[in-house]
Amino acid sequence: MIDLDVLAPAGTFERQLLDEIDLARLPRHVAIIMDGNGRWAKQRGSPRVEGHRAGIASVREAVETCARLELDALTIYAFSVENWKRPRFEIVTLMSLLKEYLARELSNLLKNDIRFRVVGRMNELDPSVQKALAQGLAATSSCRGMTFNIALNYGGRTEIVDACRSLANDVASGRLTPEQIDEETLGSRLGTAGLPDPDLLIRTSGEMRVSNFLLWQIAYSEIWVTPTLWPDFRKRHLFEAILDYQKRERRYGGVINEGRPSDAKAEAADGRR
Ligand code: FPP
Repeated sequence: MIDLDVLAPAGTFERQLLDEIDLARLPRHVAIIMDGNGRWAKQRGSPRVEGHRAGIASVREAVETCARLELDALTIYAFSVENWKRPRFEIVTLMSLLKEYLARELSNLLKNDIRFRVVGRMNELDPSVQKALAQGLAATSSCRGMTFNIALNYGGRTEIVDACRSLANDVASGRLTPEQIDEETLGSRLGTAGLPDPDLLIRTSGEMRVSNFLLWQIAYSEIWVTPTLWPDFRKRHLFEAILDYQKRERRYGGVINEGRPSDAKAEAADGRR
């Protein structure tokens, strides 16, 4: 049961926004491209890593708010396969922040019944990071509330390549025929297997790009871009994104007939929500 007073106390601006949201039509899965940490730091004359550090409070608030809204899943883009090109100090700091975050937040995740998952090539990360992640995965494996995915060493194309390799291995060993491969079998080999595709993709800092994030899964996601830099992203921005999402007409390639997409596949997709 969603507790409005816990989400946003009466009389606040956040509560005004929350009261406008139709709780029966919430997105099931929200994905976020957290961008603008470097610019946030630069505006303050601070090193880039200070933007990442400040961004942790935004992560905490997004996770808590999505869980309280009882969404199925939240996926955040924390480190891409391309981010290895960044200065070594920035990479090391990002990994340390992640470990710190996990150590500090694990009890909160458990308290809120949040299941933690990683998408991306976890095996290529530093062993100390893998260990912290594995502890988080094991500790929350029986949680049944929201799934909180962190995309780490993640690339949408890499993920699709890995899924294809896994299918090819199964075909080569005779466990699968090429004809058995369809969107469902491929989807089941992705890091987000078992979760609905994101209904809403949020990007902060104003850039109009998807940056190799969840390429397969965002086929029909609604995209919401805000100029707000990630360290300034708060509950109110999430509520604004959801409100905007609820104004969109989702057609899934079909046409709207009495308020519903007419094409059969689109109806199936619509039925998921
Ligand atoms: C993009 O901003 C942000 C990242 C590459 C990293 C996001 C990481 C965090 C918010 C902190 C650690 C994560 C967790 C889960 C605890 P940018 O550096 O590209 O910003 P810019 O475009 O302004 O330079």
